Amino acid sequence: MRQITVTEQLLLHQKASPMATGRFTRLLNELILAAKIVSREVNKAGLVNILGLTGDVNVQGEQVRKLDELANGIIIHRMQRAGLLCAMASEENADIIEIPPQFAHGDYILLFDPLDGSSNIDVNVSIGTIFSIVRRTHDEGQVCMEEVLQKGENQVAAGYFIYGSSTMMVYTTGDGVHGFTLDPSVGEFLLSHPNISIPERGRVYSVNEGYWNYWDEPTRNAVNYFKSGRNKRRKPYSLRYIGSLVSDFHRNLLSGGIFMYPRDFRDPKKPYGKLRLLCEANPLAFVVEQAGGAASDGDRRIMEIEPSELHQRTPLFIGSREDVRTAVSFYKDQSA
Ligand code: AHG
Ligand code: MN
Ligand code: MN
Repeated sequence: MRQITVTEQLLLHQKASPMATGRFTRLLNELILAAKIVSREVNKAGLVNILGLTGDVNVQGEQVRKLDELANGIIIHRMQRAGLLCAMASEENADIIEIPPQFAHGDYILLFDPLDGSSNIDVNVSIGTIFSIVRRTHDEGQVCMEEVLQKGENQVAAGYFIYGSSTMMVYTTGDGVHGFTLDPSVGEFLLSHPNISIPERGRVYSVNEGYWNYWDEPTRNAVNYFKSGRNKRRKPYSLRYIGSLVSDFHRNLLSGGIFMYPRDFRDPKKPYGKLRLLCEANPLAFVVEQAGGAASDGDRRIMEIEPSELHQRTPLFIGSREDVRTAVSFYKDQSA
């Protein structure tokens, strides 16, 4: 196959996708450079002292791992200088990240999870970076929270990087989903998965069954549907759960299946599950819908949810359209 770089792909789609402007191409290329640097650090994590915990606790109340912090710093440092953003929001930062006055500003806002799957960092299981891009809604001035708290339908681009057996990037600008694989010998992401389309129904379900005791009835019924033979396939789905959302999502995107992170009742204060709407659910919802799949919180499309706070969480059912529709049907009766 002729080797097509990300820039060529964007220019090829220039007319079709309003996002494929020169500015957006530059923005994506800056993000790619940050991801290449993160990938380099991840690939040598075992050799230098960047494994383990920093001793800090982040805004999510989670132990911060050195690589979380390193990836976060790399992306912020790089993207502040891109001259295309007016603000950023990271899973690791409590508040909006402003662009210092000495750097040129643009009208895009980048929201990201710098390192997804942190619990897997020290045990050499694939992890990733998830990103979402929206355009600011005011013409100028200080970016305000309401410009960052935009529903998923407003995203102009979204995607993720996976640091695994190879480093891959998958993204959409609303004109299909395309996957690129990093060729380390030339340092370029080359088109390896053009026009990704997710199978309508899969053979895999991904959920942490260790929380069975914290689930409600609809969740147990939904999980039982996939693990018993009582489904349209007449045989059980396989359970695959890596513990890195980006990796579980990517496998299901390519070969079909459903990822579920339902609400659970471990912590009565947080009955909405663990995953974050803005930095995890929205970007992957944009990708999966562009690939013909679906993403729901059990009640409505993820991309319809009007965010009310920066780090709000949401239950997540995402993947093959028919599997998501079935899983969500177990909650319908409850809300009826
Ligand atoms: P992050 O490392 O960014 O906090 O994300 C971890 C998330 C997600 O990647 C994964 O699917 C989920 O946590 C696993 O959670 P459990 O360990 O509770 O199953
Ligand atoms: Mn994450
Ligand atoms: Mn993270």
